[in-house]
Amino acid sequence: MSELAINGGSPVRTKPWPAWPVHDEREVQAVTEVVRSGKWWRFAYATGVELNEDLQAQELSKVVEFSLKFARHHQARFGIAMANGTGTLEVALRALGIGPGDEVIVPAYTYVASATSVLQVNAIPIFVDVQADTYNLDPARIEEAITERTRAIMPVHFGGQPADMDGILAIAKKHGLAVVEDAAHAHGSEWRGCKVGALGDVGSFSFQASKNMTAGEGGIVLTNDQDLAEKCDSLLWAGRKKGRPWYEFHQLGWNYRMTEFQAAILLVQLERLEEQNDRRMANARYLSARLAEVEGLEPLRWDERATKHSFHIYIMRYQPEAFGGLPRSRFVEALVAEGIPAFTGYTFPVYANPMFVNKNFHGKGCPLACGHYGRDVDYAAFARSCPVAERACYQEAIWLEQRLFLAEREDMDDIVEAILKVKAGVKELA
Ligand SMILES: Cc1ncc(COP(=O)(O)O)c(C=O)c1O
Repeated sequence: MSELAINGGSPVRTKPWPAWPVHDEREVQAVTEVVRSGKWWRFAYATGVELNEDLQAQELSKVVEFSLKFARHHQARFGIAMANGTGTLEVALRALGIGPGDEVIVPAYTYVASATSVLQVNAIPIFVDVQADTYNLDPARIEEAITERTRAIMPVHFGGQPADMDGILAIAKKHGLAVVEDAAHAHGSEWRGCKVGALGDVGSFSFQASKNMTAGEGGIVLTNDQDLAEKCDSLLWAGRKKGRPWYEFHQLGWNYRMTEFQAAILLVQLERLEEQNDRRMANARYLSARLAEVEGLEPLRWDERATKHSFHIYIMRYQPEAFGGLPRSRFVEALVAEGIPAFTGYTFPVYANPMFVNKNFHGKGCPLACGHYGRDVDYAAFARSCPVAERACYQEAIWLEQRLFLAEREDMDDIVEAILKVKAGVKELA
């Protein structure tokens, strides 16, 4: 048996993994064109961008063109591009009229922005556990969390795998709740052959640097509802109203506008999306099949209704007993030393972050104790109702980034080889 790299042996892999973001002269040209045009911001106030609008009919701002193309690509009528994927969630919730005193159901295992967007509109995030084998919001656990205050459910298509939209949409319909899809990880993902993002009332995507399409930062809201689209566009643009004078403001709004530079890059990135997703899916499928050889390291289940999975994150579940009781952190350190850049993901379930434990939200007790809600939420108590999120964060989850899956099939073998090597050498790690 060869010596583990963490103890000075030679690593399984020294060849670099694909770099991210993928870019070439097309992105350079797209940005150069914007620089030369002198039009650096979204100059056209074209609300919501209708699916059937004739692209050739007008001089389009890159932001408007991108909004239209991304919406079309995701089978949505309207796309409203913004500065980032946190602002998109906030604006979507606000456009739905969610605010003080309202509760929104959010998965316990997600990036903090899913929940903080709810707090930004002065509403209250209520956490529900995820499924043990997909890490997506568990429909079987949603109804017990619904109260007379609940207004919306926010499924997150975690790691790129669509959440169980059959179950979630049925519960939302039964209880008259809005559905806000957090699709920050799921560009191009599909549920039963339909792209995510406009399966519910409104969906949100991020184009932050790690995402499967990126301009460094950026976000977009998708919806099929014209009224919601117009509200979102007004909210991101300081409260202006389409067709009204420029310096006339109708509601509290923000500046969450995307720049022309971002949109120009994203137009090119969109052209790469499907080919990259196909490659990720093929490599992920192959890796999962090979991991069947490794007892104690199980990939998340790929739901057959998730007809496309962007594999923004490939997640394996670690069982220390199968590795002689080796703690996950030590296993991951050894894997990294072998040339596999794995990591353990979120430090805490969202509710266990100091912000939630200390209720360090808005001032003066808002949104919990300042009048409209009038009750308390013990965020630490979600530890009891969210055992899967607890296990995922503290013991089980091991993440691999999407860029690794842009490599070749034989590169996946390096991942398996490194895992088997570390497994065989656990005694050296004690
Ligand atoms: C699940 C999820 N939602 C929302 C966001 C927020 O996106 P952004 O970073 O563009 O604000 C992210 C970003 O990491 C995310 O992972």
